[in-house]
Amino acid sequence: MLHPAGEDAAAVANLFWVMAAGTVVIWLIIMGITVYAVLGKRRPKTERFADRFILVGGVAFPTITLAALLIFGLALLPDWVRAEPPDLRIHVTAEQYWWRVAYEGPGGESIQSANEIHLPVDSTVEFVLTSTDVIHSFWIPSLGGKMDVIPGRINLWRLRPTDEGIFRGVCAEFCGPSHALMAFPVVVHSADNFAAWREGEAASGIAQGNEAFIATGCGACHTVRGTAASGQVGPDLTHFASRRTMGAGTMPISAENLARWLIDPDHLKPDVRMPGYETLSEDDRAALVSYLMALK
Ligand code: CUA
Repeated sequence: MLHPAGEDAAAVANLFWVMAAGTVVIWLIIMGITVYAVLGKRRPKTERFADRFILVGGVAFPTITLAALLIFGLALLPDWVRAEPPDLRIHVTAEQYWWRVAYEGPGGESIQSANEIHLPVDSTVEFVLTSTDVIHSFWIPSLGGKMDVIPGRINLWRLRPTDEGIFRGVCAEFCGPSHALMAFPVVVHSADNFAAWREGEAASGIAQGNEAFIATGCGACHTVRGTAASGQVGPDLTHFASRRTMGAGTMPISAENLARWLIDPDHLKPDVRMPGYETLSEDDRAALVSYLMALK
C-alpha cells in the first residue's frame, strides 16, 4: 500500500503520510505539554490563561486540523461521475473462495478467466464487482482499493496502474474459513504485451488428452473452451497452466501441487466446494495432471 503502482494507491499513500506527519507533530506537542505539567514548577498565572488554553488547544486546534485533513482527504477522492468511460471493463465475481473474472471486449464479447487479473499499464480499468454468496472485498494494495463485493449488488471500482509488474490482490473482508486463501496475482503489462496476452487468453483450450478429464466429470463444473467441458460452477480452466497460482493464490501451479489438490482439496483449502478424488487410479490422476498442466 505504501509502494503505490497506481494513481488510486498513490492518493491513499499520500493521505497516509500527511496524516502520519500530522500525528507525529501533535504527539510531540502533547508530550511537551505533559512533561511541562509534570516537571514545571510554574503554574498558570490566572484562570483566564487556563480558559484560553482549553479554547485554543482543545477546541480551535482540533477543529481546524481535522477540517483541513477532511478537505485534503475529500480532494483526493476520484471524480468518477464526470470521468471519461474506462479503457477496459472487467467483471469480477467473488465466490467462496475464488474470483471469476470476465474481460469485456470492444464488441461486448467477454473472455472468461479466473483467479488472476491482467491489466494494461496507464489505462483506466473499471471493475464491475459482485458476489454470489457472502460479502467479500476486492483489494489490490499496490494499485488501489478496496471495495466491498456484495451479493445482489453491483459495485464499480476504477484503477489506473502506473507501473508494470506483478502485484498481489486479496480478499479484504472475512468471508469464511478460507478467507485468507482468496488472493489473486495482478499482472500489469505494457499495452502491446496486454494485447498479446488477451489474444492468447481468448483462444480455445486444447482437447487433446482430455479423456480422463471428461470421464472423471470435471467438465460438469469447469470449462475448457472449445472442448466438451463447459461447466459453470468452478473456475474456467481454459488456460489454467498459464496462471501463476492455483486455488486462488493458495499455492504455485505445479504437477505436484495439482496431484495433492485432486486428492484432497479441502485439506489445502478448508470449505472449498470441489470434492476430493482420492479414489482415482494413479494412471487417471497422472493423466489429469498432465492434461491440466498442458492448458497454457
Ligand atoms: Cu472472500 Cu474474504
